[in-house]
Amino acid sequence: MHDDLEQRKSQHLDLVQRSEVEPEGSDPLFDCVKLVHRALPELALDGVDLSTELCGRPLKAPLMVTGMTGGTERAGQINRDLAALAQEAGIAFGVGSMRILLDQPELLPTFAVQSRPPLLFANLGAQQLVQRGTDAALKLVDLIKADGIAIHLNAAQELVQEGGDRDFRGQIDAIARLVPQANVIVKETGCGISPAVVADLWDAGVRALDVSGQGGTSWPRVEQLRAKTPESRALGGLLSDWGIPAAACIAAAREASPQMQIVGSGGIRSGLDAARAIALGADVAGFALPIVRAHQQGGVAAARETLRGSIAALKAAFLLCGARNAVALRASRPVILEPLKTWIEGLAE
Ligand SMILES: Cc1cc2nc3c(=O)[nH]c(=O)nc-3n(C[C@H](O)[C@H](O)[C@H](O)COP(=O)(O)O)c2cc1C
Repeated sequence: MHDDLEQRKSQHLDLVQRSEVEPEGSDPLFDCVKLVHRALPELALDGVDLSTELCGRPLKAPLMVTGMTGGTERAGQINRDLAALAQEAGIAFGVGSMRILLDQPELLPTFAVQSRPPLLFANLGAQQLVQRGTDAALKLVDLIKADGIAIHLNAAQELVQEGGDRDFRGQIDAIARLVPQANVIVKETGCGISPAVVADLWDAGVRALDVSGQGGTSWPRVEQLRAKTPESRALGGLLSDWGIPAAACIAAAREASPQMQIVGSGGIRSGLDAARAIALGADVAGFALPIVRAHQQGGVAAARETLRGSIAALKAAFLLCGARNAVALRASRPVILEPLKTWIEGLAE
């Protein structure tokens, strides 16, 4: 069974190199966010302040490499390299699901990173949290000396995956039990978090979430590509663009909860997208696919280039809106085009 899990993780890393994992009909709608150009910025590029704070930790830029991998030697190298780059850039970093470690502690080196990004997250699925309990989650945090743990929600992926979870009860209670004991961020994995769920999480004590909306990596599609039965293949095809577009999730979550810390992710593909996410109300913009692809195709140098390029574009966008910092960027009021406008209005009802 564990070999299966290792094999699955390995397949995931290969499959996400394929363009089909970002289905054509899927769109995070960041292109509907038009940042308003300011011809007289009255700012120097060096005067733009990208620094922020997430879960009590200072970040040099409002960016996060969200959890992806672990459990194999190849995954370990990705974690070590990307954590080192996150440390260098002063941004947040998360390892991938640590479920396998609960039964195979000898795989710890594939999750443990020597570098210290300013904010490091462990990772576990909400259903494993239900089954294995708070202590198991706390142990995972301790094992890699993380600052907190990301609890991921991935019902759509599980339903497509042969042998995946079919029972999603008890997750909110399990999260509520964990929250008093650890720094928790609750994250989706590409289908988005609606305002109703934001409210449930707030009531459960959660103070940080990653909306991980639709429009980037599609996990139903990844499972469709792995599927061996016609049923799974068909369901994966149908659900490959399932979810709430990332830009709509961010705006609606911010509207629903002024105080929740929000990581905006799902289909962020440039520093400009990151600026749009922040203008919509995200505290931090997160991404997974672009940096792991860069790493797998061109090693550390290519991943570093991706990260530096994102930071440069983010800074340029701030300056061109005349925004010294994130508060000013939000105040510069982006113009929201259709269909994002209708999505945001619909979610608010
Ligand atoms: C190769 C890969 C593996 C992933 N594995 C996990 C995981 O183990 N746990 C998790 O919470 N999210 C996982 N994700 C989801 C990402 O953290 C993110 O939420 C999602 O991919 C959307 O962001 P993107 O469009 O920038 O890729 C994974 C993503 C990728 C690309």
